[in-house]
Amino acid sequence: MQGKTLFVSGGTRGIGKAIVYAFAQKGVNVAFTYASSADTANEIIADIEDKYGVKCRAYKLDILEPNTYKDVYKLFDEDFDRLDFFISNAIISGRAVVGGFGPFMRLKPRGLNNIYTATVDAFVVGAQEATKRIEKHGEGGSIISMSSTGNLVYTPNYAGHGTNKAAVEAMVRYAAAELGEKNIRVNAVSGGPIDTDALKAFPNYEEVKAEVVRRSPLSRMGDVTDLTGACLFLCSKDSSWLTGQTIVVDGGTTFQ
Ligand SMILES: NC(=O)c1ccc[n+]([C@@H]2O[C@H](COP(=O)([O-])OP(=O)(O)OC[C@H]3O[C@@H](n4cnc5c(N)ncnc54)[C@H](OP(=O)(O)O)[C@@H]3O)[C@@H](O)[C@H]2O)c1
Repeated sequence: MQGKTLFVSGGTRGIGKAIVYAFAQKGVNVAFTYASSADTANEIIADIEDKYGVKCRAYKLDILEPNTYKDVYKLFDEDFDRLDFFISNAIISGRAVVGGFGPFMRLKPRGLNNIYTATVDAFVVGAQEATKRIEKHGEGGSIISMSSTGNLVYTPNYAGHGTNKAAVEAMVRYAAAELGEKNIRVNAVSGGPIDTDALKAFPNYEEVKAEVVRRSPLSRMGDVTDLTGACLFLCSKDSSWLTGQTIVVDGGTTFQ
């Protein structure tokens, strides 16, 4: 993977940050996005370049305005001369998900639509722009959408995210069907509950955590690094005939 380039959205925290480090460690140049954490992004860039000697850059992006991906990729083009992998990882929280995160009777179209925009539309535009760059070098590449098992298992308050993760997994299959001829594989990595800021924002975080530990045969909650192995695998030659799939990495929680 040495010398290849990854573009990942939402690299400042949680799972996205773990992905930035995991790929850089393998010698991959990394471009990532942030929404508000510019200082953190700069600290990560300095740390990555110092530790791993790869090129690392960050760009501001708002996934509630998916078309702005086009401007971000123009900045990417000034810094990098090739793209091999794209991971759609960023997720909205806080005010943007009001009406989308909550019990069924409190769901509102606006909150639900925001989650669709940030999950499905952002994946589509990000992956389209990635495809234009990956096909330039003709060596193929890999596109991944992060998903979650909240679309398979009832998770309180998660209807908005869960339904949109189901939608993005379906979009992944459509993209895979059409991008295969360009030797671009498209898959999803669906995680069980992972200990991140996003999960800590759940009003019943302690309850969710206890339930996950109880359900997992491995008796622990997921860590941010638990999803990086599946992402590396999906970007490596070891998965060269794997496309249009969702890999579930859930510590065994989905079946319990
Ligand atoms: N946590 C879980 O239990 C879990 C389980 C399975 C799958 N996942 C999935 O994994 C992915 C990452 O989740 P996470 O828990 O690591 O999230 P997180 O810790 O909340 O991090 C969110 C990331 O998205 C960025 N972001 C926030 N609002 C944005 C916006 N409007 N536009 C662009 N970027 C924005 C943040 O940037 P700033 O720091 O600049 O705000 C940050 O880098 C998501 O797709 C999530 O659904 C999570």
